[in-house]
Amino acid sequence: MFKNFWYAVEFSEDLVVGEPKKVKLLGQQLVIYRKNSDKSVVAMSDLCVHRGAALSSGEIKDDCIVCPYHGWEYEPDGSVRKIPAHPDKGIPRKARIDSYPVQEKYRFIWIFMGDLPESERIPIPDWSDIDDTDKYRAVTGSFLWKSNYERILENGVDVAHTPFVHGGVFGNKEKPEVPEFEVEESPWHCKVSVKLNPPNSKGIWGLLNPNKTKDLTKRPQVPVSTTWWLPNMILLDIKTPMGELKIFDVNIPIDEETTLVKFVALRTFFKGKWADRDARRRVFKVLYEDEAVVNGVRPELLPFDLSAELHVKSDYNAVLYRRRRQELIDKGWSVEGNTIVGEGPARVEARVIPSPIRKEVPELASAWNFKEVRSKELLGKRTEREERGDVPRTDTTDTPREEGVRA
Ligand code: FES
Ligand SMILES: [Fe+2]
Repeated sequence: MFKNFWYAVEFSEDLVVGEPKKVKLLGQQLVIYRKNSDKSVVAMSDLCVHRGAALSSGEIKDDCIVCPYHGWEYEPDGSVRKIPAHPDKGIPRKARIDSYPVQEKYRFIWIFMGDLPESERIPIPDWSDIDDTDKYRAVTGSFLWKSNYERILENGVDVAHTPFVHGGVFGNKEKPEVPEFEVEESPWHCKVSVKLNPPNSKGIWGLLNPNKTKDLTKRPQVPVSTTWWLPNMILLDIKTPMGELKIFDVNIPIDEETTLVKFVALRTFFKGKWADRDARRRVFKVLYEDEAVVNGVRPELLPFDLSAELHVKSDYNAVLYRRRRQELIDKGWSVEGNTIVGEGPARVEARVIPSPIRKEVPELASAWNFKEVRSKELLGKRTEREERGDVPRTDTTDTPREEGVRA
């Protein structure tokens, strides 16, 4: 898992004024809420510096969030403005927690989880198709998955698995070859474009699909592209004979072994509301099919050593992902998982991902009560811990398994 990226954590429409919400990612717990004044979103550690209570159970007052335990009031920048037990005393310098930059874009709330200055942050990719509501009809949804997000990301961009895992949906077992593909890449993304052989469409797609040739091997090919962006984003673009399908998804790493997938699925055909349910059902069908295979993959986490698994040509984009990931580890951007979120062994210490203000205001260097999460130095030790089978489980009982359909 990596810090110093923008992470989409929630759909904008699912965060309403006056109702703070807990979100979990990178082994951390955060609270997000909307300010009363301009409705913009605040994201901070869900961890009161006084006794560690969850601010997400508190109330919003003006633009502040009030801790439910002893009523300390936090400003949007993470500093405490009031300690009700001692209104006449000054506020200690250490009475502050990390508050993270936020953007609302492409129907998502994005949080920058790291301390890079604005000029060094890798921008959110261009997903402006999501805003083109004239061209596309959209459905959205969430899917909680007990697997590692990198295994899920590799699965999402893997073209060779579709005939076997999704035979009959958009893979065709009679034509499993992966033909020559085009690649477009940058340090932050990789797009693979290929022409695949579709199966016969079923359901309402089958009724209306102009290509009804019974002989599957004679059906026209379908241009498909899969793209990953670091650290956890995917686009699946399928040009069916009926029109275009684009599925944007984020694989939110709650921790190393729990992932919350949130998707926006766009289509240029069957744009009536009547087809929304069917469009959503098709995405979930694919997710359940993938889950059945990915949950059985061992080791559960992506190996750090490239030679630990065998790669062939059609794994090009996955190999590139693993190389880039190693570079991020070398940069010191990896973060230890299950720092706050997990169940299992009780912790005596909560560590957080540092926010930009820690670097921006050096005078505050000694004012941070919570230490920073450990990074790559601990990766080796973590592997030892896994060998002992000593990996904490995660409490996700408050996260619904499958959720949502919206136009
Ligand atoms: S724990 Fe938050 S005010 Fe005491
Ligand atoms: Fe798949």
